[in-house]
Parts: sequence; C-alpha cells; structure tokens
Amino acid sequence: MCFQQSLMLIIYLVQFYMNDVLAYASHYTPEGIEAQLKKYRIVPDIMENATREDMEVEYQGNLMIQMGNFVSLNRTAFEPKIKWKVDPNFYYTVTLLDADYVNIMVLQKVQYQLWMILNIPGDNITAGELLTEYMGPNPEKDNLPYHRFVFVLWQHPFVHFRELRVRGGQLPIYRENFNAKKFTEKYEEDGLGEPYAVNFFRTCHPKEE
Ligand SMILES: *[C@@H]1O[C@H](CO)[C@@H](O)[C@H](O)[C@H]1NC(C)=O
Ligand SMILES: *[C@@H]1O[C@H](CO)[C@@H](O)[C@H](O)[C@H]1NC(C)=O
Ligand SMILES: *[C@@H]1O[C@H](CO)[C@@H](O)[C@H](O)[C@H]1NC(C)=O
Repeated sequence: MCFQQSLMLIIYLVQFYMNDVLAYASHYTPEGIEAQLKKYRIVPDIMENATREDMEVEYQGNLMIQMGNFVSLNRTAFEPKIKWKVDPNFYYTVTLLDADYVNIMVLQKVQYQLWMILNIPGDNITAGELLTEYMGPNPEKDNLPYHRFVFVLWQHPFVHFRELRVRGGQLPIYRENFNAKKFTEKYEEDGLGEPYAVNFFRTCHPKEE
C-alpha cells in the first residue's frame, strides 16, 4: 500500500469510528415509547401522538430517566445532561414540564415550565437560547400519588421565537402559562411540527414518598 492509500484508509476508519461513537441510539422502540406515553397519559395530555424517538436524560449520580420511572426529588435539583438523535440540518427546542401542576387561581391543572432552551444546534445545549432557567421539580403536597415530569423535544428549522424569558426566582405565574400543544400550533407556520422526542419521570413531594 502506498502512503496515500494508507492515509485514505486511516481517514475512513476514523470517520467510521466517530460515527459509531457519536450516533445516538434510541433506548426504546417506537412501540415501547407509545405504550409508556399512553399508560401515563402523556398522550393525549401533552401531545396528540407519541414520538418515535426518545431522549437520553441523565441526572447527577448516573440517574437515568426511563420513560416513567419514579425518581427522588432530591436527585433532580440540577439540570440533567440530555442527548438525542441529531440531524445536522435542524435545530432543536427542549422543555421540561410538570404535567400535574395545579394553578391555584383557576384550580385547574396547567403545564408548569421548569426548563426551556430554544434553537439548539445539534445537541449542544450551551449553544441554544436559554428561555427558561432550570428549576428543580417541586410538586406540592397534594392528593396526587405523583406528578409527571415530561421532557419534550421539537426538531425544526431556525425559528424566531416570540416568548418571554424566565429567570430563576421569578414568580410561578411566569412558568404557568405554557402548553406544549399550543406551542406546537403557534409555531406551525415556522416549521415546528409535532414533538420529535420525549422522556419522562414521576416524582412526588418528599413527605408523600
Ligand atoms: C396524529 O396521528 C393521526 C393518525 O396518524 C393523524 O391523523 C393526526 O394528524 C396526528 N396529529 C397530529 C397533531 O399530528
Ligand atoms: C434522597 O431521598 C431519598 C428518599 O427519600 C433518600 O433515601 C436519600 O437518602 C436522599 N438522598 C440525599 C442525598 O439526600
Ligand atoms: C457548544 O457550543 C459552545 C457555545 O457556542 C461552543 O463553545 C462549544 O465549542 C460547542 N461544543 C461543541 C461540542 O460543539
């Protein structure tokens, strides 16, 4: 083999290896995702149809979120590491919602936004636009056995979102006015489409554990 051929071979092997390392492999089949989303009524509460993809969500101490596992509140105080199957032609927007938050003004369940990052290139969340600063789940002591906390990811072209920035420590009212289905509709013309990937966990007030 001449030098040039060897070089080509090395480049080929490195590319092959990199693809293998970087490509995200789903942890669930589409059927498995759909079954869990329906079991816990994420479908239809948060989204109309199940996504085909999952997201990998890892909290500190190697705590993996697994489509509805029960998690201790004290493990979720800091934002997790998240990953998903990336298409380099798109941007991604991710949110974490409490699907069982009750708005005491209207005594109704609303979706409470705990975290939101817009226009993420690939899965580099530090390069996205931080809309809502991360807040650890903090369900009220209520008569529910648990709250569902849902990570929803959209895949889309770059969008000029028209949303209010929410900082840590701001009043709950800033986080209460979110609805994943309405968000999808609001930006439909901008190419948002239905959610692309999802994951979720359950947790409750420590006194109810
Ligand atoms: C959900 O899936 C059904 C059946 O495939 C489809 O008709 C409907 O348009 C989908 N809903 C949304 C919001 O995409
Ligand atoms: C978190 O909560 C669980 C269950 O209440 C408890 O067993 C565990 O010791 C707590 N961990 C820390 C670090 O506080
Ligand atoms: C992620 O984005 C940050 C900020 O734009 C950049 O500094 C960093 O190099 C990016 N990381 C990767 C792995 O691309």
